[in-house]
Amino acid sequence: MAPGTTSQINAMLVVDDLQVRYGGVLAVAKVDLHVGAGEIVALVGGNGMGKSTTLRAIAGLNDCDRGSIRFDGAAVEHVPAHHRVTLGLSLVPEGRRLFPRLTVQRNLELGAYTRHDRGEIAESLDRALALFPVLKDRRTQLAGTMSGGEQQMLAIARGLMARPRFLMLDEPSWGVAPKLVTRILDAIQAVNAEGVSILLVEQNVRKALSIAARAYVIQTGRIVLEGAASDLLDDDDVKKAYLGL
Ligand SMILES: Nc1ncnc2c1ncn2[C@@H]1O[C@H](COP(=O)(O)OP(=O)(O)O)[C@@H](O)[C@H]1O
Ligand SMILES: [Mg+2]
Repeated sequence: MAPGTTSQINAMLVVDDLQVRYGGVLAVAKVDLHVGAGEIVALVGGNGMGKSTTLRAIAGLNDCDRGSIRFDGAAVEHVPAHHRVTLGLSLVPEGRRLFPRLTVQRNLELGAYTRHDRGEIAESLDRALALFPVLKDRRTQLAGTMSGGEQQMLAIARGLMARPRFLMLDEPSWGVAPKLVTRILDAIQAVNAEGVSILLVEQNVRKALSIAARAYVIQTGRIVLEGAASDLLDDDDVKKAYLGL
């Protein structure tokens, strides 16, 4: 086993032979991947390759056609999405999906929709705002009036309000000014340092691989390559053939 990798058997998340269709369209043909406790793992690939569909299937927002998804050793592929959230599995969706006409504060509160303990929710709110202090100043502002980067921070903070142990992020650098992308990646690393395992989807491959320990490359719905992020970045053939670098 290479350094930095985790035994698949003991991994927090294990996806085995996943297949997902939209009607007749095969969006994910065969995805096998795992994420160990405490890891940051990247899933990279071009537009339309099946990245979002994979994350949505893990979150329970798309049905699987075939395959299994195990979280903490238990099969969850038939568990409803909101229950997966209570198990500790959270998705920050592509395009952020905020409520633009609600305040920052209200968007954050909605992230805690599966929780009931007000004291604990308030504690999560404090932690989320500590991670992104800019949101603290904007609590009463409507989400839709903020910049792309600030909205992405809000989307991540909202995802954290579910108190996940496993967080999936779908293209967090999308629509974000370059100078804020680094800020967002730093925040993802800070979340990870607090013990949250991360599955990160990005088209910004170099950035994703700079914070991930391992990565999977997906092409037309199939994992075609996996390895240590540093090995993928060091391999010129891999960079040309798969990563568009
Ligand atoms: N709601 C949908 N209905 C039908 N086809 C879809 C839908 N969403 C995505 N697809 C198709 O599934 C494939 C994978 O899409 P997606 O998972 O969004 O890719 P990525 O996130 O890698 O860009 C693409 O061919 C896309 O056109
Ligand atoms: Mg996508």
